[in-house]
Amino acid sequence: MTEDFDVRLVEDVKTYTPDPQYRKNAWMGDYQKAYNEFLADPDAFWEKIAKELDWISPWDKVKEWNYPYARWFTNAKLNITANCLDRHVNNHRRNKVALIWRGEEGRERIFTYQKLLSQVARFANALRKIGVKKGDCVCIYMPLVPEQAIAMLACARIGAIHSVVFGGFGAAALNMRIQDAEAKVVITADITIRRGKAIQLKAIVDEAVINAPTVEHVVVLRRRDPLVDLHEREMDFYEMMEGMSDDCPPEVMDAEDPFFILYTSGSTGKPKGIVHTCGGYMVGTYYTCKYVFDLKDNDIYWCSADPGWITGHSYIVYGPLAVGATVFISELTPDYPDAGSFWSMIAEQKITIFYTAPTAIRMFMKMGESWPDKYNLSSLRIIGSVGEPLNPEAFEWYYRVIGRQKCPILDTWWQTETGMLMITTVLGEPMRPGFVGKAIPGVVADVVDKDGNSVKPGTGGLLVIKSPWPSMLRTVYHDDERYRKYWETIKGMYTAGDLAVKGKDGYIMILGRADDIIIVAGHNIGTAEVESALVSHHAVAEAAVIGKPDPMKGNSIKAFVILRVGNEPGDNLKQDLLHHVRTTLGAIAVPHEIDFVDKLPKTRSGKIMRRVLKAQEMGIDPGDISTLEE
Ligand code: PRX
Repeated sequence: MTEDFDVRLVEDVKTYTPDPQYRKNAWMGDYQKAYNEFLADPDAFWEKIAKELDWISPWDKVKEWNYPYARWFTNAKLNITANCLDRHVNNHRRNKVALIWRGEEGRERIFTYQKLLSQVARFANALRKIGVKKGDCVCIYMPLVPEQAIAMLACARIGAIHSVVFGGFGAAALNMRIQDAEAKVVITADITIRRGKAIQLKAIVDEAVINAPTVEHVVVLRRRDPLVDLHEREMDFYEMMEGMSDDCPPEVMDAEDPFFILYTSGSTGKPKGIVHTCGGYMVGTYYTCKYVFDLKDNDIYWCSADPGWITGHSYIVYGPLAVGATVFISELTPDYPDAGSFWSMIAEQKITIFYTAPTAIRMFMKMGESWPDKYNLSSLRIIGSVGEPLNPEAFEWYYRVIGRQKCPILDTWWQTETGMLMITTVLGEPMRPGFVGKAIPGVVADVVDKDGNSVKPGTGGLLVIKSPWPSMLRTVYHDDERYRKYWETIKGMYTAGDLAVKGKDGYIMILGRADDIIIVAGHNIGTAEVESALVSHHAVAEAAVIGKPDPMKGNSIKAFVILRVGNEPGDNLKQDLLHHVRTTLGAIAVPHEIDFVDKLPKTRSGKIMRRVLKAQEMGIDPGDISTLEE
């Protein structure tokens, strides 16, 4: 953790006040009123929300808090898919569109709630048939196609724990995740399509399952003609569904049964398997979709993330479907076939709520307003942002050009660990560029010093959450000590690992990570993960990795490498190292710069002082270097 968080803030930020209609028509209503209602009786607040959903049997207690362990909706029974699918099919949304998918080449696929339920039930039955049971882990490594959501929902239907791995990860990263979660089945596709090119996904899986003894089956969605050959233990996604009933009784899940594992980067080389449970996660994502995103029956909602990240779990699949929304998904990239691809989708589909990341917004800014200006974006009523700080310039551009000075921006702060969004400026409240806003009703957030004392307005510190919330992580898979660290770094509070500044009116500005995690284009990358990928190359003796501010991606990755004796630095070796990181960890973790060095700054106990490297790189004061070795 960095020691210097004495950040002073200039408070001359312009405030944007949304049309009062937003507050008047919003599910949340008045923010302060809702927040006070929560504070008056937190359990009653969450109970009221939980009661909007279907449960097989109710809870004994809303919450049991045995620091640092929380149990929510104790002893209640449920299945989230009964809420995401059956609840709508059995009511008035049977023929409502649940999912619209667009491929790069213009193909469109539409699933009504009834059709989605049938597909999920058939695939769930197929998984049961090959022996997948409640509590088994299934790894999903797929492109952004409807089958990815169907696979997730099918696991949820039968109580299998899914671990979705983003399709951009490389073979070593995938293998580590399969092994750690002891996945019994891996679900993949032959290819993913990106900017007109087919990327061989299955080839990566072939390599990743070599040292994965728990894997019994690999299920392959074959998208391409001619169909790829399947070998021993491999099965075709749709052939498995043939002859399967579209009736699949949902597994009865306890509210505290594990629901899914999702890996996120940590300060060590080993990613953390964040464990979420069934009941609290369902309530948290449903609540925020309905009351913060204000999803209504006639909305067409597009979150441009991938379900391989938590944003996709919570705000493409489970939350919006629990609310009964129409969700648009697509394999499109923002700059292919041209810089108008996203805007043409918004205009064509009449998207009303659009949720994306600051890196994408900065890329749109660079490509120029003439692109969005070509399209009619008047259907948009709310625009959102997540994953990294939305700088004031990007806020203003997004507000003016995409939101046409009318749409409120929901800049939402949250994490894989929190399951649901936690801090934002809810509809109707004044927006302040650079600040995410305040804790939503249901959440108690603060900025504190190292000892946990609340900092004065205008001062920086660590972002903390002061009381448990339903969709919080319950543990780190196979590593509960890492879980406890979140709550024990500052006694009694959840330390998010972010540096933040408290504005004079309680609004919070997020500055970035306080630890060795680099957020590159909104993706969490552990410095230690990249370092171990580099060191696994035969030519590398030691490596140190830092994040450098980048105007487009938020941060870029810079690596310092010491070569083993007998290896000469040079461009070819650099390219080889980059290729090595790409194939092991994945494209998202590839360093933007590599410097070959003879020495790295270390403490006397041998720990690399990345802080010193970063200060040198940026020409700033390295701070306390008394522990630096001679
Ligand atoms: O540093 C914060 C940043 O992303 C981290 C969490 O990353 P991940 O678990 O991958 O989840 C990302 C999507 C929820 C946080 O610790 N972050 C997330 N949202 C924001 C943000 N930083 C600033 N502003 C945000 N809105």
